[in-house]
Order: sequence, then structure tokens, then C-alpha cells
Amino acid sequence: MTVSFNGKKPSRRAVLKGALAAGGAVAGATMARAAGPDLLITQTQPWAQGLGEGVDATPYGLPIRFESDVVRRNVEWLTADTISSINFTPIHALDGTITPQGCAFERHHSGAIELRKEDYRLMINGLVDTPLVFTYEDLERFPRVNRVHFCECAANTGMEWAGAQLNGAQFTHGMIHNMEYSGVPLGTLLKEAGVQTEGKWVYVEGADASSNGRSIPLEKAMEDVLVAFKANGEALRKEHGYPVRLVVPGWEGNMWVKWLRRVEVTDGPVESREETSKYTDTLADGTSRKWTWVMDAKSVVTSPSPQSPITHGHGPLVITGLAWSGHGKITRVDVTVDGGKTWQQARLAADPQDKAVTRFYLDHVWQGEEMLLQSRAMDETGYVQPTKDALRDVRGENSIYHNNCIQTWWVKSDGEAENVEIS
Ligand code: MTE
Ligand code: CO
Repeated sequence: MTVSFNGKKPSRRAVLKGALAAGGAVAGATMARAAGPDLLITQTQPWAQGLGEGVDATPYGLPIRFESDVVRRNVEWLTADTISSINFTPIHALDGTITPQGCAFERHHSGAIELRKEDYRLMINGLVDTPLVFTYEDLERFPRVNRVHFCECAANTGMEWAGAQLNGAQFTHGMIHNMEYSGVPLGTLLKEAGVQTEGKWVYVEGADASSNGRSIPLEKAMEDVLVAFKANGEALRKEHGYPVRLVVPGWEGNMWVKWLRRVEVTDGPVESREETSKYTDTLADGTSRKWTWVMDAKSVVTSPSPQSPITHGHGPLVITGLAWSGHGKITRVDVTVDGGKTWQQARLAADPQDKAVTRFYLDHVWQGEEMLLQSRAMDETGYVQPTKDALRDVRGENSIYHNNCIQTWWVKSDGEAENVEIS
């Protein structure tokens, strides 16, 4: 399956007016075939005629070569080089909720640095009773927690404001990953240093050249921010901030400082040193709003989708996708196959977790009808994911950040899918 872009600067993709007629669901289709002559069953195959590889062939296992398509990809025309750049998680090809580190998107402002644990230091200074410096070993001695959280770049889906652009869930929604972190609550370390009463914010920065300095209100820092050193059970990968990164649950990815080196307690946001003005949301009237840190509820159908077409013919079809909210737990996901005329409640694969990705399924019977597939997430605050039109009414078409609108895939009768807009 290849992904096509319409040249360097992609033109607006198809805009469909009105929804397609819904096909009737017919029961009774079978998913297995009747037993019959099949050489794969009746003949001894090559892999059963010799021996396989020994246990030490791959000390650290990698995916089998047949899965070599399931990789991070970037979009060349998006950034001038790969240093200050981004790539995308292949969400169209994954299942479950945990993103393997090896294919979790990367976003660097000055490249991924190599920092040894031995050379690692974390300083807490500013409005504290005792400025402190921690080594990696010091951090390992504090009481630890495990939490699963999504990290979504504020720019995720950012290319889609003006029209349907990128033909694949990986590219439209792949600036997200969801991992299980092990680490120490930042609040524990701040208490160790003793925050003074004038301390209201923390300024956090990384050890890379960009430093990615950001200000976070003290309240959030004390609430659930983690100083994490493991992801999915193993050390953070270099590209995700080895040996230590900040986890800021539910808040935009740019605050999740990698290679964390310093936390300064301040009495206000450090405007001059940070890029607060960069991360603003353009509104329809041309004004901007800033400090929109929380990622609102969002979802996307990951399969079928442009990079994951239907290849198995008519009958039972598993429609699946991801939903998440920076405000808490997902409570419900609805799916439509007819562009929003009728909605069905999807099945959530497991109990939704706080500020983490939830997997949903809709078990559908597909008779080859064209579909306009959408999903719509709801979270525990009662918030409902908006349509693209509703979001544009407020934000216009010139925004980059915080696009959490409902996504539409046009699935054609041959099973291929395309990124479209409907109105
Ligand atoms: N931290 C540092 N030190 N340097 C960076 O360039 N990029 C930020 C954030 N933390 C960045 C950083 C941005 S914009 C995002 S979206 C997340 O890291 C991405 O984290 P990931 O690369 O692990 O996916
Ligand atoms: Co980002």
C-alpha cells in the first residue's frame, strides 16, 4: 500500500457534499472458509522441514521482516530538514493501546541527543528552600509510580485545517503515542526542595541545544506530572528523552520536556525564555488565544483507512480506532458509516484510563457499499468531539494547533479509502 500526496504542496482533497446511502447490514456471512484442499494444510512446508533460529540469534528482538512497513514515517515537504522535524506513529497498523517505543512518533527541535546516565543531572532551583541536584541513581531511590498516558503534539492534525490533505491516519493523526511510564512524581521532588510560598510556576528545560523551555503552573506540576525514566517497561529510547523525560498528562506534547535537566520554581511564567507565543491558537476573527494546554477529546478510525484498506471482501468487518481526552477518561465513542446520518455506539476494548488512549471496535457487516466513516469521542466532562465545520466556525482555517475535529474516511466499493471532508 503506497501513500500518495498530490505533489509537494498538496491540493485540497475531495470534498463530498451530502452523505452516501447506507447499505443494509446482512447477517449470516462466515469468517472461516469450508475445509477443502489447501496445500498449506496438506503439504509439509519448508519451515517444518528444517530447524529454526537459536535463542541467541537476536539478543534484542526486532519485528519480523514481514512487518517492515510498520514504521514511523515523515512527510518531506513539512520541514526543511530532519533535525527540527517530526515523524508519525503508524497508528493505522497497530492495535491495542500501547505504542511500542520503536514506532512512537518523534518531535525534536534540535535533534535527538545521546546522554549517558552517568552524565545525567537534574537541578531544582529558584523559589525553593534548598536547591537540589539529582543524579540518575538518586531518582531511582524515590517512591515510584506506573501510569499510562498519551502524548499528543499540539500540531497533530494541524495540516487539515484548510481542507483534507494527507492520505493516511498515520499522517493526519500520528503525532500521538501512548505508553506506560515508570517514574517519580515531580511533586515528590519539589517537596524535597521545599517550594516557597511565592512559587507559583515551574520552568522546565531539557539538556538539548533547543532546551525546549516551558512554563507549567505549579498546581499542575504538583498534581500528576512525572519525572519518568522507563516507558513500556524498558529504558526510554534516545529519541524520547533518555535517560529522563517529563510526562505532563493530558497536556500538549511540547511541555513533555525530554532529557530533562532543570526545574526552576518561579513566581510567574517565564515568557522571555519560552515559546509561549509560538503555541497559540488562531481564531476565526484573526485573534489568538494562548495557554490552551489541555488536549481536548479526539478520536480517529485507524482501520479501515487510506493506508489500511479493506482487502478481504464482503462480510464481517472490524472497524477500529483510538479515542483520548486530556480532560480525563473517555466515556463513549460513536461510529457512523453513513457520514453522520446514523450513529452506533462502539465497543470499548477495556476500561478507559485517565488521560490515556482507549481502543474502540465496531463489528460491522460490509456488503461493498460505499461508506463515510467517522468516529466521535465523548469524555467524562460531557464534552463531545466537534465536527470540522463546528470547529472551523470558532477557529477559522488558518490555525495549526489543537485540531480535534471528527475525521472522515470515504471507503469505496473496492475497499480503498480516502481522506475527505463532508458538509
Ligand atoms: N523536549 C526537548 N528537550 N526538546 C524537544 O525538541 N519536543 C517537544 C517535547 N519535548 C522537545 C521536547 C514536542 S513539540 C513534543 S510533541 C514532544 O516532546 C514529543 O515527544 P516524542 O519525541 O517523545 O514523541
Ligand atoms: Co509537539
